[in-house]
Amino acid sequence: MKHQVISFANQKGGVGKTTTCINLAGALSEMGLSILLVDMDYQSNLTLGVGLPMENGEKGTGHILLYPEVSFRDIIHESSIPNVDIAPATMDLSKVDINIDKRPERHKILHDKLGEVKHNYDYVFVDCPPAFNLLTVNALSTSDGIIIPIQCYPYSLAGLNTLLEIIDDIRYAYNFDLEIAGIVPTAYETNTRLAADVLQELHDRYGGKVFDTIIKKSVKVAEGPLHRKPIVQYASSHPVANAYRELAAEFIRRESR
Ligand SMILES: Nc1ncnc2c1ncn2[C@@H]1O[C@H](COP(=O)(O)OP(=O)(O)OP(=O)(O)O)[C@@H](O)[C@H]1O
Ligand SMILES: [Mg+2]
Repeated sequence: MKHQVISFANQKGGVGKTTTCINLAGALSEMGLSILLVDMDYQSNLTLGVGLPMENGEKGTGHILLYPEVSFRDIIHESSIPNVDIAPATMDLSKVDINIDKRPERHKILHDKLGEVKHNYDYVFVDCPPAFNLLTVNALSTSDGIIIPIQCYPYSLAGLNTLLEIIDDIRYAYNFDLEIAGIVPTAYETNTRLAADVLQELHDRYGGKVFDTIIKKSVKVAEGPLHRKPIVQYASSHPVANAYRELAAEFIRRESR
């Protein structure tokens, strides 16, 4: 296994970070793997998407970053996916940036705290917010790999260039081990020429970094938040459920070579 801790990141909003994180975890769980999901976005989409109802006063990743005495063991819950746990996000995460800004170790708090639990899992998946803030920096500073979901529109390619430059900056500043685990085309529209052209451009520019598996656009995927579990669980025989199984198989192949 090359990358044990993997961030799902893209500064662009609504590109499928959270959806890819949940559904890849669902498909890997079917293969018998155990995963810790870490929600670093105060929108809590990952937390809600795997069935955790967050009650007031519940501790989450914000507490991990803000309070030295809180550990992952205090915040981890079982998710709706077998063998998959979740470190939930709460609104407290929105206070983190400004509160840890002056601490010398501010970029590696997540890394230091994750150390005591990550050996309990095959993988740790960290869902990043759509921004480059200290939360994303904490996520990337502790990650071995990054999965970048991308939608096939022209502007996405410009954004991807910027993202790759920022990843280089993080690599040199904080984490030399950080690698691109793969770029995943998501919500792909099979009926447009534009999407096909952008996909071709993506392959021309980034070659082997792009997953061969494509996740097509489907309302079945968009229904996920209603079911609060991955598509492999709520629509097991749907073509997109099989696409996520293919993505999981390709992921494992890439990780073992
Ligand atoms: N393959 C797909 N087909 C149809 N809809 C999809 C697909 N993948 C994701 N979506 C929908 O697109 C929206 C954005 O997806 P998602 O929340 O995963 O993106 P995100 O990058 O995590 O967003 P944010 O930047 O806000 O965190 C959601 O409503 C989701 O259900
Ligand atoms: Mg998200």
